[in-house]
Amino acid sequence: MGPRKLAIVETCQTERLAKLARKKLRPSEGELVDLDADNIAGHHLCCALSGKKHLDGVNEKKAFLTRGFARGLTFRKLDARGKVFVEYAPAEAAFRPVHAPGFLVIHCLWVSGRFKGRGLAKALLQSCLDDLGTKNGVVAVAGKKIWLTNTEFFLHHGFEVVETTKSGFDLVCYQREPSVPAPRFQAAARAGVVPQTDGVHLQYVHQCPLVPHAVKEMSAAARDLGLQVSTEALDTPEKAQRAASPFGTFGAFLHGSFLTHGLMGRDSFRNLLEATLSKRD
Ligand SMILES: CC(C)(COP(=O)(O)OP(=O)(O)OC[C@H]1O[C@@H](n2cnc3c(N)ncnc32)[C@H](O)[C@@H]1OP(=O)(O)O)[C@@H](O)C(=O)NCCC(=O)NCCS
Repeated sequence: MGPRKLAIVETCQTERLAKLARKKLRPSEGELVDLDADNIAGHHLCCALSGKKHLDGVNEKKAFLTRGFARGLTFRKLDARGKVFVEYAPAEAAFRPVHAPGFLVIHCLWVSGRFKGRGLAKALLQSCLDDLGTKNGVVAVAGKKIWLTNTEFFLHHGFEVVETTKSGFDLVCYQREPSVPAPRFQAAARAGVVPQTDGVHLQYVHQCPLVPHAVKEMSAAARDLGLQVSTEALDTPEKAQRAASPFGTFGAFLHGSFLTHGLMGRDSFRNLLEATLSKRD
């Protein structure tokens, strides 16, 4: 698909904000672009703009997206240097531990820095709704935690919370077809346990370019404390849908139980491990 002008949303309820957003942007920044196998090489990935440390992650992410495009994944971004994008896929091709047949699943919706507050997230979300076709609706994992789009943002746009895990992740849903059952988290994500009950286990998807660096740092932190470390790439939607972290993209487990979905540096993760282990003693 070629460039999408923000004007697409002018037919929808977002008209006022879309106009406002465009006014505040530089002239060259006014278009939404869908990445595809042909144009991806020429675009930066807005979720990892800086730092050589994420080079591997960016390459992994580009490969992840290219495989995903063949299964209906959409990555739509503002053609500007900044984090302004939405990524979503049909449920069967989505890397999220949700049961949502016939729905679209948002992997990530992110607007940051000077782009915030201009109606751009609303325009991106609307563009996803515009792509529903005959689908039943849209779901996303949301919450107040880092790396998640705020639940309130989705509620503001007509979504409902259909489930909340004990670990505090919301599954939000815009259900267009009321006769189908509401989507749910998969059992593994609800339970939050893995069979690796000794030490630290990291589950990850290359959906996020920050993953390889975080896996290195967090593995090192666990080894600093003399803990055994195992890692597991969830490299197909089927595997990711059985993730024991409700976030899907990433999960760190300590002695078999879900600890965090946070992509952390060595010191922060070591502090978290120490604090958790001292509470358990
Ligand atoms: C939440 C977020 C998407 C909002 O983006 P934005 O472009 O600033 O939002 P918009 O300008 O499009 O806001 C549109 C509407 O939503 C409302 N809104 C924005 N953020 C909101 C929030 N956190 N809670 C409730 N409503 C919110 C606005 O008030 C506005 O309302 P209106 O249409 O009634 O005037 C953005 O702050 C963000 O990306 N946060 C971080 C998300 C993240 O970490 N993602 C995962 C990364 S891996």
